[in-house]
Amino acid sequence: MEALQELIASLVERNWAVTEQFLPQEILSALYAGARSRWEQGNMRPAGTGRGRDFAVREEIRGDHICWIDPQHPCNAAESAYVQAMEALRVLLNRELFLSLVDFEAHYAVYPPGAFYRRHVDCFRTDDRRMLSTVLYLNPGWNARNGGQLRLHHPDGCWTDILPRMGTFVIFCSDAVPHEVLPASTWRFSLTAWLRRRGLLPF
Ligand code: OGA
Ligand code: MN
Repeated sequence: MEALQELIASLVERNWAVTEQFLPQEILSALYAGARSRWEQGNMRPAGTGRGRDFAVREEIRGDHICWIDPQHPCNAAESAYVQAMEALRVLLNRELFLSLVDFEAHYAVYPPGAFYRRHVDCFRTDDRRMLSTVLYLNPGWNARNGGQLRLHHPDGCWTDILPRMGTFVIFCSDAVPHEVLPASTWRFSLTAWLRRRGLLPF
């Protein structure tokens, strides 16, 4: 709990935060195995950009493959532990920051070697529900030579690079932090989720 309190304090201060203490090692290893087997069995699809009529696959913008999870029906014990941890975070954020986050949506993602995601923010023009973006990385033994950094762009023009190492969990404001994924030399696995409020726009 202490780690989550610190995470929230730093999120408030600078719009983003990172912790290594989101889930224990055995859960992370099981999530990694699950993500890999989804990929190996052909259960991940090229990710698109946009929503509704704007939706399209554009590899020159993003080259990852994804598989949505159903938070109501986790596929295994590790996924269930992840959903519970995200729920606990949602409730704590509501309590500490007086937010009204109602749910989250989440998917596994894999970036094959050379794939990237150009600079963007995580909001749709037609759907303003996403408030906070989170990514849990699942890659054991990752180092800077593998690339694949998440680059967060700050208002002063500086940036922060985060390596997608197993267990690293990052959270940032969906509409306020432009970010990109740099190409990696090997397969890069993660679980991405967006904590959402009730929508204000019609859709
Ligand atoms: C995204 C995204 C970042 C990452 O899926 O919108 O920005 O590090 N992912 O995988
Ligand atoms: Mn994003």
